[in-house]
Amino acid sequence: MPDQDGFKVTPWTVEGEVDYNKLVQEFGTQLITDELLERIKKHTGDLHQFLRLKYFFSHRDLNWLLDRYENGEKFYLYTGRGPSGSIHFGHLMPWTFTKYIQDKFDSKLLFQLTDDEKFLYHDETSMDKISKYTYENILDIIAVGFNPKSTKILIDTKHIRHLYPIAIEIAKRVTYSTVKAVFGFHDSTNIGMISFPAVQASPCFLPSKIEGKPTPCLIPAAIDQDPYWRITRDIAEKMGYYKPVQIHSKFLPGLGTNGKMSSSQPETAIFTTDDPEQIQKKISNSFTGGQPTVALQRKLGANPDICPVFWYLRYMFESEKSSDERYIQCKSGGLLCHECKHDLIDATKPYMIEFQKKREKAKDQVNEFLFE
Ligand code: TRP
Repeated sequence: MPDQDGFKVTPWTVEGEVDYNKLVQEFGTQLITDELLERIKKHTGDLHQFLRLKYFFSHRDLNWLLDRYENGEKFYLYTGRGPSGSIHFGHLMPWTFTKYIQDKFDSKLLFQLTDDEKFLYHDETSMDKISKYTYENILDIIAVGFNPKSTKILIDTKHIRHLYPIAIEIAKRVTYSTVKAVFGFHDSTNIGMISFPAVQASPCFLPSKIEGKPTPCLIPAAIDQDPYWRITRDIAEKMGYYKPVQIHSKFLPGLGTNGKMSSSQPETAIFTTDDPEQIQKKISNSFTGGQPTVALQRKLGANPDICPVFWYLRYMFESEKSSDERYIQCKSGGLLCHECKHDLIDATKPYMIEFQKKREKAKDQVNEFLFE
């Protein structure tokens, strides 16, 4: 149920229409300012579209991380995926961004697959099914193009021996009443879920273990994952580590009405395995910000602010300038929805065909990417 703000965000559900400014206040994170963007740009040369357009919009301690970096201290990246379904277009966005940071800052990356979490969370799911998705998701991760020399994938059930010593140190310092408050657990929550946050927190400190000294760690993730980092940050220094740093993204709109793109609503999500016909069909059937009739649209204009077709064109395929022009055209009734859908179909098809080639190649690279 959405709370009094009209929305609710937890690591497992996003409901209602999210007010990101309120969320930043509620979670106690910082908005990414233009000043901070300038500082990042000094190191990256250009600014990624996702930063300029504030798709990544919030952070914790990025200035601190840059201080360290400027003092010659390298940071690790850590991100992850709960393998409960196929990968869609939306999932690729934070990962593409993570690759950009990896390339620009020459960072090592730990990529966690929380197969345990998804098994524990979903009542009806078998471990066999989760393992199948784990493998399929790894192909997608590799296809994004991470540097094989500096990227390691951890599958929780497989690589737990690397995480467990850290996880118990964390678990010992976090009480039930804390996770109850932070994650909304209750008495009927299974005990696997209750201790799981320690497992997701562990990779924050693994870089320090690997390097043998406190090592900064930056986590790019959607803001729904922030509760994990909040509890991790609270105990980090007591354990002799740096607090993990975060950069938070917004959620991705689905092609249905206003919600996040979701694997559980396959008709609203473009999967990385969809063929051109499926892509065409899903985008053609997408929700838009349009009027019920052409005549009305010409007269009143449409609403790009709520339109997923506009959104994906803007963030994935267009320059800011041509997207701004599209925005004006759309609002003034100069553009019809089928035209934008057509443009998105034309851009998505070749993108996915290219991606699918890399995904095929990834089948031979899995072992190279797995943590030993
Ligand atoms: N819990 C995340 C999910 O369900 C997966 C995850 C694990 C993750 N570690 C992470 C996501 C670190 C972002 C960053 O998708």
